[in-house]
Amino acid sequence: MRSASRYHITTFGCQMNKADSERMAGILEEMGFQFAENPNDADLILYNTCSIRDNAEQKVYSYLGRQAKRKQEQPHLTLVVAGCVAQQEGESLLRRVPELDLVMGPQHANRLGDLLEQVFNGEQVVASEPIQIVEDITKPRRDSSVTAWVNVIYGCNERCTYCVVPGVRGTEQSRTPAAIRSEMVELGQQGYKEITLLGQNIDAYGRDLPGSTADGRHQQTLTDLLYYVHDVPGIERIRFATSHPRYFTERLIRACAELPKVCEHFHIPFQSGDNEILKAMARGYTQQKYCRIIAKIREIMPDASISADAIVGFPGETEVQFENTLKLVEEVGFDLLNTAAYSPRPGTPAAVWQDQLPEEVKRDRLQRLNHLVSVKAAERSQRYLGRTEEVLVEDQNSKDSSQVMGRTRGNRLVFFTGNITQLKGQLVPVKITEFRAFSLTGQLLLVAC
Ligand code: SAH
Ligand code: SF4
Ligand code: F3S
Repeated sequence: MRSASRYHITTFGCQMNKADSERMAGILEEMGFQFAENPNDADLILYNTCSIRDNAEQKVYSYLGRQAKRKQEQPHLTLVVAGCVAQQEGESLLRRVPELDLVMGPQHANRLGDLLEQVFNGEQVVASEPIQIVEDITKPRRDSSVTAWVNVIYGCNERCTYCVVPGVRGTEQSRTPAAIRSEMVELGQQGYKEITLLGQNIDAYGRDLPGSTADGRHQQTLTDLLYYVHDVPGIERIRFATSHPRYFTERLIRACAELPKVCEHFHIPFQSGDNEILKAMARGYTQQKYCRIIAKIREIMPDASISADAIVGFPGETEVQFENTLKLVEEVGFDLLNTAAYSPRPGTPAAVWQDQLPEEVKRDRLQRLNHLVSVKAAERSQRYLGRTEEVLVEDQNSKDSSQVMGRTRGNRLVFFTGNITQLKGQLVPVKITEFRAFSLTGQLLLVAC
């Protein structure tokens, strides 16, 4: 490799992609590349892409178009497309953008070094075949020095009729409890305070591990994993995402209530509040089952935050069915809800159904839902007013350098006056003095040393 080469990574999409990008950045630095903030200064540009909705995918093409043009003038530039669009499009990406050097699916993230060797030998490479994900030995280059992601299960075996993820991320592959724990031990030694355990359907953790039986009676579950990693020294907070209502258990809630480091926050997407739509989505639960889960959480952990994802304008969704989603939001009162208008995706069953809704109907429903979400989120925020919350300080407030930002255990953003060099990575008590729908302002009570 040429010396003093520089790389730039732009990441689209979810936390899995962010975690993959951090590992790929680690591999590039191991190879001697240095990070370039500006893609135009870089000799290697990697787009880690998302194809969950059409607009996410289109964004990639517009970024890529610009760099492909630059490559015509600077042929030494190496262009890589990784992630979910790469997996979905494979070879056809090369036809669309012939300037590309490497197209690699998410399962190949840890192989970036080998794949680049082939590129530097003059090949144009496509890596999209399903593989057994190799345990990573390179140290990720993590964006934060306070909070870190740890993958526990890759892929997804569900078949939600709108979703590309199973197609692009492949079948479930759990990491061993020992590998997860040792990554966490190392993070604790490096001074990280908060870990988020990651999986598209994290409740599936362990199903595929040797020792698990088909009847599900002898299993290494997510709950078992939480008990197993809970005492890792230095790690003060543990989060996990994403939970699937079909597999969510009371045992998991009890573990969260019992284990002091596990934060009081559940992210459980419901997607729709209407049973017919849930069935058409192949989600495997009803609105009633979802509400029973929420009731159980509120019984055992009354103050826990609850967030979710929802889709409006799924094919055939009537006004009344959409109103069932509004009703669910009204009843549950989410702390946060990620909302999206349904986007037909290539290769998914629902994309070819006849009863697609017009864009303006989807837009209108999205607006109405978002309005309700912020009203309910503000109601949830209000409960913090006057309380003293434990905040883990992550960074400076990017809009006001006299303030720092952090999160409560329930995952609400908090801003307060303070010096980031003194406070970064500290868990401090903050008295909440103002609330907004999705964030809080407070006052530091005392500085821990
Ligand atoms: N594994 C998680 C979510 C993964 S994708 C789960 O099962 O809930 C993240 C979110 O993107 C989904 O929860 C869904 O709300 C949204 N999403 C997925 N496919 C979509 C599509 N075709 N159109 C609109 N939103 C979509
Ligand atoms: Fe997609 Fe469903 Fe898997 Fe979530 S559980 S990633 S929505 S297929
Ligand atoms: Fe997007 Fe792939 Fe994540 S499609 S949401 S980056 S799993």
